[in-house]
Amino acid sequence: PNVAWEHHHRATTSFVHERLQRRRGQRDQTIDKQQHQLEGDTKRKRSPLVSATPEWQRLELHKLEIENQHLRDLLKDEERSQAMFAEHDGVYLDYSRQRATLKTLQLLQDLAKRQRLEERIQDMVSGKTINFTEKRAVLHTALRADPDEQIFVDGENVVEDVHQVLNQIKTFTEGVRSGNIRGYTGKRLRNIISVGIGGSYLGPEFLHEVLKTEPDGINSALGYNLRFLANVDPVDVERTCADLDPEETLIIVVSKTFTTAETMLNARTMRQWLWDFMGNDKEVVRKHVVACASVSATDKVKEFGIDTNNYFFRFWDWVGGRYSVCSAVGAVPISLMYGFDLFEQFLKGAQSIDRHFMTAPMDKNIPIIMGLLGVWNHSFLGYKTRTTLPYAEALLRLPSHIQQLDMESNGKVMTRHGIEVDYPVGEIDFGEPGTNGQHSFFQLLHMGQTAPCDFIGFCQSQHDLCLDDESLSSHDELMANFFAQPDALANGKTADEVRAEGIEEDLVPHRTFKGNRPSMSLLLPKLTAYATGQLLAIYEHRTAVQGFIWDINSFDQWGVELGKKLANDVKAHLVDARKSEDHVIEASNPASSRILNYYV
Ligand code: F6P
Repeated sequence: PNVAWEHHHRATTSFVHERLQRRRGQRDQTIDKQQHQLEGDTKRKRSPLVSATPEWQRLELHKLEIENQHLRDLLKDEERSQAMFAEHDGVYLDYSRQRATLKTLQLLQDLAKRQRLEERIQDMVSGKTINFTEKRAVLHTALRADPDEQIFVDGENVVEDVHQVLNQIKTFTEGVRSGNIRGYTGKRLRNIISVGIGGSYLGPEFLHEVLKTEPDGINSALGYNLRFLANVDPVDVERTCADLDPEETLIIVVSKTFTTAETMLNARTMRQWLWDFMGNDKEVVRKHVVACASVSATDKVKEFGIDTNNYFFRFWDWVGGRYSVCSAVGAVPISLMYGFDLFEQFLKGAQSIDRHFMTAPMDKNIPIIMGLLGVWNHSFLGYKTRTTLPYAEALLRLPSHIQQLDMESNGKVMTRHGIEVDYPVGEIDFGEPGTNGQHSFFQLLHMGQTAPCDFIGFCQSQHDLCLDDESLSSHDELMANFFAQPDALANGKTADEVRAEGIEEDLVPHRTFKGNRPSMSLLLPKLTAYATGQLLAIYEHRTAVQGFIWDINSFDQWGVELGKKLANDVKAHLVDARKSEDHVIEASNPASSRILNYYV
């Protein structure tokens, strides 16, 4: 019987072996065929799109290899794990749980070279007009440059200007905090309301939330109040100022253009609120309202009644709204609340990443690696969404900031050549702090659709707690999840592993995790102002890298214009309807007419 069994076993083995060989052969043939086809397509297309380059095509082919590999196996490769991390100034990036091999990284770097990534980064930081649809430079990095650096735009050294404004902000905010600068009735200004929306709001709010619980932040904020008024919903006004004393309140109107409808209405509402309490005197505005706006909006700032000599903190056309937190947009509210020194530390953190971004080789460059993997995940592996998961409650507004930063920047389809892309561009970003997210949308991340995850954690907490009878601190508890989730996503759980736990057979499929879900982990020492600057710059540069590879303009936002225009049309209809009860609105289509008439 043994001989018979052995014969049977050999026959089976060779049968399996043959089948495997045949299958491999077929797969190789398919890849060869696809390679030919792709090469043919490339020649035929002669397209200026990046997707027609051999580097892109090689990645398309390489995808077929990756599709056959599971992260569970990739993670066993020690050499790969050793190589797939990068470190700079305390920031540790582990990207070994990406569906990528060292070859993928090499091919992505080849693509970056083809797209002249390093040259384009250089163009950006040196002030070239890379925002070509608005004919502007893109120089948020100049906002955190040292005073002795020189960056020229139209023959002017912008760094000099940046530091002039920073000094002006330092003097003003210290004046308010010391009580030298007071309100109209002589009271100390202790409440700060920052009125702005989009990029004029999300970055400063995210920084504020970090500093709120940061020990130095707590100390310096004692006795002050900072609130943000963004939404034109009147309820936001109520929530912002109902319990505040106007005589102790300073309003900051933050708007690059000084024309954004929501911000300007809220600014007028706040001005009226001040007048209602202190009388309709123009001195009230001069003593209680300051502006952060672009130089080109100076006349509008003046018209509003603001003292443009002392209470106007300017920034420049080359600072995009969503890239503006390092300008007066963030500097004024944050320095009023927490003191100028903490804001400076934030700038220093961002500067550290800027230098790393400009000089580190691609394979060690954190924002470049993250950007290239973003392109890989979205354009090649086809993942449409991406999540930001800070395991730090104080970063609760980071996902929203990244959402605007990334989706307003890379939500485009036109390349520099005015040709529409034929590859996926621009992820949908969302996120929540961990572990809260685990009890909300993580079910989908583990078993439903795949969304590459960015886990962000810290070695030390801003405030750790440890109960006497607990062997681990609360921060360890939090971080245990930070370390466990990426493995759960990557490895999953096989049916056999589920069975081995004694689970009933009919439940096995429901409790099996396919795994193979990519993530990366950013680990930093502690959530300080400095670390927040580092995180900010990492994500700003990741967005730019992806835009450069995709060959789009990440620095304009024409997509928001149409909605604004149509809102104006609706407002005109509403004005007519409010004048007379019998007025019937006739909008541009029957559905709009019907719903508008229902509203009025
Ligand atoms: O939503 C469009 C947008 O222009 C954003 O890019 C910008 O951050 C926001 O509106 C606010 O603009 P502003 O600072 O000019 O008021």
